[in-house]
This record gives sequence, structure tokens and C-alpha cells, in this order.
Amino acid sequence: GRATVRLDPAFTVGPVRPRMFGSFVEHMGRCVYTGIYEPGHPAADELGFRTDVAELVRELGVTLVRYPGGNFVSNYRWEDGVGPKADRPRQLDLAWRSVETNQVGTDDFVDWARRVGVEPMMAVNLGTRGLQDAVDLLLYCNARPGTRLPDQRVANGHVEPHDIRVWCLGNELDGLWQIGHKTAEEYARVAEETARAMRQVDGRVELVACGSSNRAMPTFGTWERVVLERCFDLVEHISAHAYYEPVDGDVDSFLAAGEDMHRFIEAVVATADHVAAVKGSDKRVMVSFDEWNVWYHSRFPGERSLEIREAPELIEDVYDVRDAVVVGSLLITLLQHADRVSMACQAQLVNVIAPILTRPGGPAWRQTIFHPFALTARYARGTVLRPAVVSDRVETRAYGPVDAVVVTATHDPESGDLTVFVVNRSRTESSELTLDVAPPVGGDPTAYVLVEHLVVHDEDPSATNTEERPHRVTPHPGDAAVDGATLTATLPATSWHCIRLT
Ligand code: AHR
Repeated sequence: GRATVRLDPAFTVGPVRPRMFGSFVEHMGRCVYTGIYEPGHPAADELGFRTDVAELVRELGVTLVRYPGGNFVSNYRWEDGVGPKADRPRQLDLAWRSVETNQVGTDDFVDWARRVGVEPMMAVNLGTRGLQDAVDLLLYCNARPGTRLPDQRVANGHVEPHDIRVWCLGNELDGLWQIGHKTAEEYARVAEETARAMRQVDGRVELVACGSSNRAMPTFGTWERVVLERCFDLVEHISAHAYYEPVDGDVDSFLAAGEDMHRFIEAVVATADHVAAVKGSDKRVMVSFDEWNVWYHSRFPGERSLEIREAPELIEDVYDVRDAVVVGSLLITLLQHADRVSMACQAQLVNVIAPILTRPGGPAWRQTIFHPFALTARYARGTVLRPAVVSDRVETRAYGPVDAVVVTATHDPESGDLTVFVVNRSRTESSELTLDVAPPVGGDPTAYVLVEHLVVHDEDPSATNTEERPHRVTPHPGDAAVDGATLTATLPATSWHCIRLT
């Protein structure tokens, strides 16, 4: 196959937003306990956080971390998780039918986030609770000392406010599985009043209204409209969530999952802009894609077993090369929407459908999906460009014919770095890429030199990284070559690429 690309630094989509490289820590399975936190582990710091995991999180390039859920947050009592650890109650978490020991809570998570160097993104419980508890948690976190809740924070060792900016107004309340599930109208009212009150507490917060749990939800589109009709002036963002796996063995559609994400984002943007039009407003509500990943639901049918345990092994997907290519392609899709996607969080960070796996008392290692994320987070800089692409097509059951080769690029005007991210979504055909870069206006047409071409691909697309072979799948050099203003490279079937020019 062939793919021809024309790139011009003058044709742009939007800025590379650092919050695009977010992740998610939920009190679920082993994400917190024996994931980020394991007192007694040889690598634990004095607070009990695993420094080996923290090191990998830094290498991954994560910028923002959503917390504490997920479905968990919809039955969470935040006050159980603050204060002296010995006094914190053990509670039954109904979302994952697990014992929550509360040994990690809001203050601990913020401590961890500051140590790792990520921005915390907090969710409030609009399932079993509501406005008052959301306001209390915000007061506890962000208010200056002098009244009861911030004084409690000070007594718990945090004099300075946590100053958390981004707040999610609940989680997936459109889903019947959500504790405290609501109709669009019910949720819209609660979110509206909660948002108004939270803004009274702290005028600097950015609020995220719940959008749909996936594009196939029966209320998709209506939900967003109803919620934004009420909350339009009170929120900056609306969420979207999506998880992908091969359905009934349909790998071609799975490799084209970016197509679903693209249509999802376009539909949410259209709905938000419709509400803006009706309101006569020029405001642009942004999309917070705050849960996305590959998740093999089919592998974990018993995840809601009746046995109630502490930190059970829940949905610990082991990812292969194909999954990594899909994750890389989803990051390309997110960048292609840099004009309207303000944030994105891969779900989750450790052990639970995660780029990092740990063994309790043992090592932590990088899954295959770690690599496209880390390279994109490191090298996507400056402005996202809008390339013109002509590619062979692949037939898919879910989306019809789609381009085999999908491309995005970023250009940093300060350093002059130009990075091209490419995926070949064909399962069977390799593709010869020819990419022409227009020179900067009035500039030297041969200005770009190749720095590096890294590929995620393997002769065995089902290869994985394991505790025994943690480096079985890593990025390796590709064959890209630059001649004048033309770059050529071979894109094997099912491969993801990061090509760096300067
Ligand atoms: O990330 C796992 C779960 O997926 C989250 O708890 C929930 O929000 C979503 O359904």
C-alpha cells in the first residue's frame, strides 16, 4: 500500500494541551493499594508510596490524574479518607464490591500527585451524595484556614490549600450501573446547582459535567444537550468516555477504534455548539475525554463476583502489540481534535487496565501500551498541524471504509522540532509513506533533518511484556529517510510510529 502526506506548519488545528496526557487513579482493584501505594514495599517512601511506580509514571509523561473514581466515587464518603490513618473506617465499596480501607484518601493522593509532579483532577460524589458534600470537599481542599473544614485540613497536616482546579461533577451518571444513576433531567439539575455552589466557594475551579459513558448509550446526544441546556454557563468541559476491544473477533474495526473516538468527539462538539447557538453564545464548551483505553470486557465476565475482598485483582488486562498500536492511534485522534479536546485521561494508571503493572512486594514494569503514550507525551510539542493525507482504505464492519494510514504532527515554533505520529491500521498490508513538508514561508525548503524514527510493531502482534520479560516489546528504530523536503518510511501492517525532525 501507499500513503502520501502533505504537511505545512502554517495549517494548524490547535495547541498541544499538556492535559491531553492525563491518567486516572481509581480506588478500584489494585490501582491504589499495591499499585501507587504499598507501605512495606522495598521501594516505598516514608508515606508508603512506591517510588518505582512513581518513577515509571514520570517516564510515562503523565500530566494530570483524575481521582478517586470512576464508579467508586458515586458511593464514596471523602471524610472517611482524611485524618489519622488508624481512625479511618473500613467500608464496603458497592461499585466494585470491595473493602475500602481508606488508608489512602484525598490528602494522601494530593501528596502523591505533588511528589510525582502531576496535577490532581478531583471528582465529587453525585451518586449517593450531592451539593453539600461537594461543597464540603471543595472547602476542605481549597479554602484558606479560618473555618471548620479548611481548619480540619490544617489539623491533618496541610496548611496550604490543595488548590485543585479541575473538578468532575460526578461520574457516568447516565449509566444504569452507576450508583445513583439519573435521567438527563435529574442529573442536569443536580449538576447545575452543585456547579453554582462550587463556584461560590472557589471562583477559580474548572468544572466538568458528565457526558455519555460511550457513544452507544441510548441517551447519547440527548444527554449532552439536556445537561448543557442547564449547565452551559457553569461548566467549562463536558466528559466523554470510551473503551475499545475487538468485538466478536472483529480486529479490523478494533484497529480503527480512532474512528469511533473521532465521531464521538465531533458529535459532542456539535451538540455543545448547538446549545451555544440556541443561547446566542460564542462560548465553546470543551471535551474532557477523561476515560479512554483498550479494555477487554470479554476477559473479565466475573468482575462483579460476590466475594468481597481488599484490593482484589480486577480487570488486569495484559496488553499486546496490537493494543499498543490502537492506543497510539487513539492519541493521534485526540491530537487531531486539539481545538476542542481540552483534557484526556487514559484509564487507568496502574494494574487496572493500565500501562504499568506491579507485583505486590515485587517489581513494576511497562506494558506495551506504555510506549506510544510515553513517546507522544514527550514529543508532541507546540502546535498540532493538519496534514493532508491520501491513503489506501481498509474495509471495517463497524465504520465502513477507513484510511489505513492516519497521521498527525506537531510543530514547536521555538525549537523548530517537527514530530510526526503515524499509524498503519491495516492488519495485512504494509504501506510506503511519502511525506512532503512545506518550508516555512520564506524559509529553507531543506531545513528539516531526521532526528529519530521509533516504531511500535512486532512480527508477533500478540507479543506482550511480562514480569519475566518486561522488555519483550519496546519501540525500535524505523527506516525513515529524509531527502530534501521529502520523507519516506516503511509502515509495516499494524504499526505505530513517532518520526522526529528538526
Ligand atoms: O475505569 C473503569 C470504570 O470504567 C470506571 O470506574 C467507570 O467510570 C467506567 O465505567
